[in-house]
Amino acid sequence: METKLKIAASILNYDFYNLSSQIKQVEAAGIDLLHLDIMDGNFVPNISIGPGVVSSLRKKTGLFFDVHLMVQKPESLIEKFVESGADLITVHAEATCHLDRLLSIIKESKIKAGVALNPSTPVCVIENVLHLLDLVLIMTVNPGFGGQKFIYPMLRKINNAKNMIDNYIRREKTRKPIEIQVDGGIGEKTAPEAFKAGANILVMGTAISKSNDPEAFIKKIRENISKAKTV
Ligand code: DX5
Ligand code: ZN
Repeated sequence: METKLKIAASILNYDFYNLSSQIKQVEAAGIDLLHLDIMDGNFVPNISIGPGVVSSLRKKTGLFFDVHLMVQKPESLIEKFVESGADLITVHAEATCHLDRLLSIIKESKIKAGVALNPSTPVCVIENVLHLLDLVLIMTVNPGFGGQKFIYPMLRKINNAKNMIDNYIRREKTRKPIEIQVDGGIGEKTAPEAFKAGANILVMGTAISKSNDPEAFIKKIRENISKAKTV
């Protein structure tokens, strides 16, 4: 099943003093989602922003808020991030021992639910929660920092996730799409490779913020992928 290509901009490496102008710039550049990386200094060795900042941003933009929770015990924070305006909350499978319960809580909040998998976590951990999922996030770096190198063996993992999802959709005869997102080290070279392997939502932090012209850069990424599709 083919799903539409979407570009998500991660704000992790932005200058937080100028956050609103940088968000306006990527919004104008045509991104599809704003990827908000939430880190607690515990699940990952870094700290970023909390629900207060997300709430403030919610008042300034209508962009789709894709909240990536890199925190221990995400259960305690779901309500706060729903209230702050998240459209999708993605939790790490490694951060909870009650994934089914956690995803059910997110779905009951009437927003989308995703599961993220660290590079070493096998795809099979999502097999029994597919009915609760809108998205699977395959981490293509170890979470915690922007600007890291794409881990190439993840291409095979993306493909495994794609096969599992396609089989599930066929078997259950459901039309509900489950999107595959990739996060970490995505740029001009790796974007078409990850898309070809089966991912349709590409998170980009460093690649967008380092480009002199984000609009032209995003356009080029979309063109390269559609060219690769037609050959
Ligand atoms: C890493 C974060 C990513 C990160 C991506 O833990 O989840 O969203 O910001 O940044 P780049 O695109 O620089 O790898
Ligand atoms: Zn992220």
